[in-house]
Amino acid sequence: MVLKKDKTVSSIVVSLVLGLTPGAFAQGIPSLKDTFQKDFGIGTALNPAQFEERDPKTTEFIVRQFNMATPENVMKSALLHPTWDTYTFEMADKLVEFGRKHNLKINGHTLIWHSQLPGFIRGIRSADSIRTFFTDHIKTVAGRYRGKVFSWDVVNEALNEDGTMRKTVFLQHLGEDYVTEAFRLAQEASPNTELYYNDYNNEKPAKRAGCLALIKKIQEAKVRIDGVGIQGHWHVGKVPLKDIEESILQYAALGLKVMITELDIEVLPRNFQGADVSQRMANNAESNPYPDGLPDAVQQQLAADYEALFKLFLKHKDKVTRVTFWGVNDGNSWLNNWPIRGRTNYPLLFDRNNQPKPAFYKVIALKQ
Ligand code: XIL
Repeated sequence: MVLKKDKTVSSIVVSLVLGLTPGAFAQGIPSLKDTFQKDFGIGTALNPAQFEERDPKTTEFIVRQFNMATPENVMKSALLHPTWDTYTFEMADKLVEFGRKHNLKINGHTLIWHSQLPGFIRGIRSADSIRTFFTDHIKTVAGRYRGKVFSWDVVNEALNEDGTMRKTVFLQHLGEDYVTEAFRLAQEASPNTELYYNDYNNEKPAKRAGCLALIKKIQEAKVRIDGVGIQGHWHVGKVPLKDIEESILQYAALGLKVMITELDIEVLPRNFQGADVSQRMANNAESNPYPDGLPDAVQQQLAADYEALFKLFLKHKDKVTRVTFWGVNDGNSWLNNWPIRGRTNYPLLFDRNNQPKPAFYKVIALKQ
């Protein structure tokens, strides 16, 4: 009781400091999904511990903050399709059930990607076998979740930084049209699901140009593509707002929905930008500078970056349909383990105890 009172008093104090009406805190902390309800969907990446509901408080928190969810890993081909002719749908089914039960739309991630592929792909030498895998995988997975997922990232990360096609096993054996073909197959298997192309750094001019060309190619083949995902793995103090805005405009000009699909803001030292999961960095004495907490100056910069980003998303809310965070809170972000294992990172809006950070309040305040 005393605790509750204290919480109410401190909420009111925070409200007054931020110039918010204390009513916004009536039920504890404000909700992102409710705050942006009229603007765009608010998503999060989920892992098995979360969608298996191992902790009821976590479930309650997720359901209050988010209205869309992306599986962080369980719908990747390595996990769904372990051998030539076996599929393991158990975890993906659980995620879909979690979404149904709690009213979160599921964004399927991802049908065709060169990373996190099943091990047996390495042994394949012939184009025919790759084509068989490619076709069966899309038909089986998209078919199973037909009517059950809201969207698919049909193809993930098909481009190099200079905008040319990445030399993946699919490009090598199937040729440049494999992306269009993937969308055609996904459309056949799951006609009412939104279909997206997803990548990182595709807000940068050269890669954006490649991405626009890829989209036009799909459209010219009269194959449906509904949207483009900009992953949004950015760096504190260096968020490329101009490039992001220009990209939103140019992708939308092709008639596509634009989504920020994997948002997080790196605050630790990194000698490259982007999110190539195969890229790693060596550990050294400076790699993990904030094991005991984020310095205030960085916290404030992070808050300013998130504020500027959401201001931009709101400006283009007629084009931006969803903003998905890559993780629920700082404790479960992949950036604690990539590109260096075992760091203490702070890239999201909620801390390790699901408490809102200054960045959260800045984002919420944009709507007050
Ligand atoms: C990451 C997951 O978060 C990690 O758990 C996994 O080990 C590697 O993949 N781009 C994507 C995501 O499209 O699927 C990646 O997710 C992050 C980069």
